[in-house]
Amino acid sequence: MNDRFLRACRREPVDMTPVWFMRQAGRYMASYRAIRDHHTLLDICRNPELAAQVTLQPVNEIEVDAAILFSDLLLPLEPMGIPFDFVKGEGPVIDPPVRTVERIDGLRRFEPRESLAHVLDTIRLLRTQLDVPLIGFAGAPFTLASYAIEGGPSSNYARTKALMYGEPEAWHRLADTFATIVADYLTAQIEAGAQAVQVFDSWVGALSARDYREFVLPHTQKIFATVAPLGIPTLHFGTGTTTILAEMREAGGDVIGLDWRIPLDDGWAQVGDDRAVQGNLDPTLLLGPVERMLRGAHDVLQRAGGRPGHIFNLGHGILPSTDLEHVRTLAHFVHHQTA
Ligand code: CP3
Repeated sequence: MNDRFLRACRREPVDMTPVWFMRQAGRYMASYRAIRDHHTLLDICRNPELAAQVTLQPVNEIEVDAAILFSDLLLPLEPMGIPFDFVKGEGPVIDPPVRTVERIDGLRRFEPRESLAHVLDTIRLLRTQLDVPLIGFAGAPFTLASYAIEGGPSSNYARTKALMYGEPEAWHRLADTFATIVADYLTAQIEAGAQAVQVFDSWVGALSARDYREFVLPHTQKIFATVAPLGIPTLHFGTGTTTILAEMREAGGDVIGLDWRIPLDDGWAQVGDDRAVQGNLDPTLLLGPVERMLRGAHDVLQRAGGRPGHIFNLGHGILPSTDLEHVRTLAHFVHHQTA
């Protein structure tokens, strides 16, 4: 069993810097596209054999030190009473979006062991097949609420912020509902065998530190406070978070994700050396000349300086137009730079 990733989460010494990639399973891989030709994204997520097969693709094709469950952030919305679908070329469409206090108050808590049993079955199946740790995940309240309220991706989160500022009590009820559900869902994933869990707050960088503290921190903190006693490493990720790293740290996570906007050592100084960090190469560098990509990776590793508690990753997910060969080269480079 390769436990470098788990050791780094706990800031223990490792033989090589562990590496995995957000969105390591996906359209940039021919093996993934071959399955997607015959199944929708949601079909794959809801079928444990297919979801496990897709999870294993990057583990078999790239030198990664962890697997991430193949699933989607939005799966908990449906059993709460928020229907959605993935529309080709548009991404997720949530219809009807959550735009009224009545709708917020009508959202349901649900039992993830029933409504999302297929996800837990995927985890159990994967644990019999993997020789690297399996990362489970869920969305954080802000990012989930932003999809529910905006109805899909957004550039300014205007409706989400309008709810926060205009109906703060309703916002807090909504965020607390998400926090309760996510804490429960992650607990179920850990019971099923997830060996670490990552909370994705991908879009929370849209908030100021003050708004983060008022509208987000208590809710995200509730998730980490519930999961921490279960004893497995927790990771907390967002993008555009350069000005809120101290607040994210306070909310929780043994490992704090850094995006590419901040040099890794500056980010780590803000996070504090009692936490591990994950990151933070710009995913766009994987599209360009390999030389430049490797220079970027070298810089990240230099800034980490061989200190225990660095997990190499990108600042955000692998882009669909990425060449698999570049990803393979990068993972190999990370391992052997630091051997
Ligand atoms: O390999 C992995 O990282 C695991 C799988 C994974 C998926 N979604 C599969 C997926 C993970 C961890 C997610 C999380 C997720 N889903 C996030 C947070 C991560 C992040 O990027 O910040 C978000 C915001 C979502 C919601 C979501 N799902 C969007 C916005 C989209 C459309 C974007 C796009 O690339 O088209 C998806 C679709 C999705 N989820 C794909 C994959 C592999 C696209 C693949 C497809 O259509 O086949």
